[in-house]
Amino acid sequence: MSDEVPRIGVAGWPVLHSRSPMIHGFWLEKYGIAGSYGLLPIPPDDARHFFANLPVSGANVTIPYKETAFRCVDETDEQARRLGAVNTIYIRDGKTIGTNTDGYGFLAHLKATAPEWRSASGPVVLLGAGGATRAIIGALLDDGVSEIRIANRTLRRAEELENAFGERVSAHAWDQRAEILKDATLLVNTTSLGMKGNPPLDISLAQMSKGSVVYDIVYNPLETELLRQAHSLGLVSVDGLGMLLHQAVPGFELWFGHRPEVTEELRDLVVASLVEG
Ligand code: ATR
Repeated sequence: MSDEVPRIGVAGWPVLHSRSPMIHGFWLEKYGIAGSYGLLPIPPDDARHFFANLPVSGANVTIPYKETAFRCVDETDEQARRLGAVNTIYIRDGKTIGTNTDGYGFLAHLKATAPEWRSASGPVVLLGAGGATRAIIGALLDDGVSEIRIANRTLRRAEELENAFGERVSAHAWDQRAEILKDATLLVNTTSLGMKGNPPLDISLAQMSKGSVVYDIVYNPLETELLRQAHSLGLVSVDGLGMLLHQAVPGFELWFGHRPEVTEELRDLVVASLVEG
């Protein structure tokens, strides 16, 4: 596609809940850029055809199509290939190119919210082994973290990550999750526990020392019980909304040619929409 005015959207099924149109719409208006960003609900039977013949000038990809998009675009970059998943598609020289900005979003938000945290300062504990976990591991390893301990309810899935990422990553049983926090400088919850409608994440943070960081990628509610506990213990807490906002930055720049800023104003807008439900 070589539209004069880029038409972008978020492709998924269902996709109605996506905050991406709000985020990109905010930036389009703020920077006075001509273009649009909408919802692209794609029924499962249409997905392969949609991604192989992209009818828009670019897209975000969400559940359940990140792997389908990976297989159907013309080219993928290193980020996407490492994860086997695409969350952003752009077009160059008539070809669709798939990338993945989830790891970037995770790390950019961490550095913005906990600037004193250093990847070299100690081990990281990750809870969960689902779709988001791989991107986070990749970003942390790239940033120089020397040890990542993963605990997951299904140990086999944590072991798969250990095998995929090599010796800096180790798998642990779910009931070890509090113990392996000893000397960790960062805990990341990548499970769906604590999300509205799910049980809370049951873990004691007592082993973590002051100044350590607790990052929950759940953003609805914004302050999970995990983050509340972190706060009461004097730990640095990082919520999941910023990851969503920051992962949108590279896509906007690729489609519209302007690097946008994540501001309090944008954050407040999205927070208000979460409160409304
Ligand atoms: P995805 O679809 O991204 O793969 P998911 O299947 O929704 O993610 O699960 C996300 C993570 O939350 C997984 O690590 C999952 O653990 P399992 O691998 O054992 O399924 C974890 N999770 C979900 N419910 C959980 C629970 N009640 N207790 C512990 N972990 C849970």
